[in-house]
Amino acid sequence: MSVQSITKRPFGEQIAGASLEDFWHPVAHVSEVGDQPKAFTLLGERLVLLRDAEGVVAFQDLCIHRGVALSLGSVENGRLSCAYHGWTYDRTGACVHIPQLGEGAPIPRKARIVKYQAVEKYDLVWVALNEPKWDIPQWPDGMWEDPSFRSHAILPKVWKANAGRAAENAADLSHLNHVHKDYIPLHDGPVIHRHEVAPTEYGLTSVYQDAGVIWEWQIHAPFTVIAKKTGLPAADPAGSAADGQPVPVMCWAAFHSPIDEHHTRIFYASSRNHSLDMSDADFDGELIQLVFDQDQVIVESQRPEHIPVELREELHLKVPDAIAMGYRQLLGKLSKVGPYLP
Ligand code: FES
Ligand code: CO
Repeated sequence: MSVQSITKRPFGEQIAGASLEDFWHPVAHVSEVGDQPKAFTLLGERLVLLRDAEGVVAFQDLCIHRGVALSLGSVENGRLSCAYHGWTYDRTGACVHIPQLGEGAPIPRKARIVKYQAVEKYDLVWVALNEPKWDIPQWPDGMWEDPSFRSHAILPKVWKANAGRAAENAADLSHLNHVHKDYIPLHDGPVIHRHEVAPTEYGLTSVYQDAGVIWEWQIHAPFTVIAKKTGLPAADPAGSAADGQPVPVMCWAAFHSPIDEHHTRIFYASSRNHSLDMSDADFDGELIQLVFDQDQVIVESQRPEHIPVELREELHLKVPDAIAMGYRQLLGKLSKVGPYLP
């Protein structure tokens, strides 16, 4: 297996002038958004999310009247009503009722709130603060929708860490046999084999072979890490591939949502075409909670808190840190990222 061929322009050549607001970011697990308003924060912007008959809706969490958080309000007849004076907004963000004005009195045209694009994908709610310039990261090979796979996403963790630092940790091979040696070590041991890192239209990719499995790593700009694990048929000639059964495949993703420059919501999701009778919690849900807790203390301790994107800052090992170096160079090409990255 080789690094997948690059058919479109590498991401690093597409992004001049892009800002973090130009991307979709995951904000909530679908189970966190219901028919009453709930507050979230993305890139320092306070949001209010709710679900109505047509789907999820995201607004700026700010009433146009006196700046009260609309997440304190309530939904009545499918409309969001402010907790302070009861101004009520429809799903387009237009104010449709002001209790202090008489019946039939005109509502000022400027009485509307800021609405953001919001969609559900991979059991998460994604929001774009600007018109998004890129798609939501694509799950490899359509596995998420494939009925022969079992897929799930778990509730997020919040780390007091920069999203770039957290994403780099998710793609860091070198710490697996150290921080996670009792849970998810590389089978070949701590020495990292040479692995090519190649630019793609979404960011970068690398293929890493460890004992009987192939890991295909993808980093989707700016903060998504996807790892697809494929069993090697050659390693088990009498095994599943030989009798016509599908090769065991498992794919996980860590989506890092920048709350602000110092806080990140981390979502984990996975797909598998084996162990289908196992509960999701038994398969990887509980393990991932432990692994995330191990990583959290490490990443929250990193200084500077921002991920340095100049390679002369911090020290790198050419082979073990190859993916991280590629990721930092990628982030360094993003401009207009404000305080969230250096
Ligand atoms: Fe929202 Fe007055 S502040 S109705
Ligand atoms: Co880790």
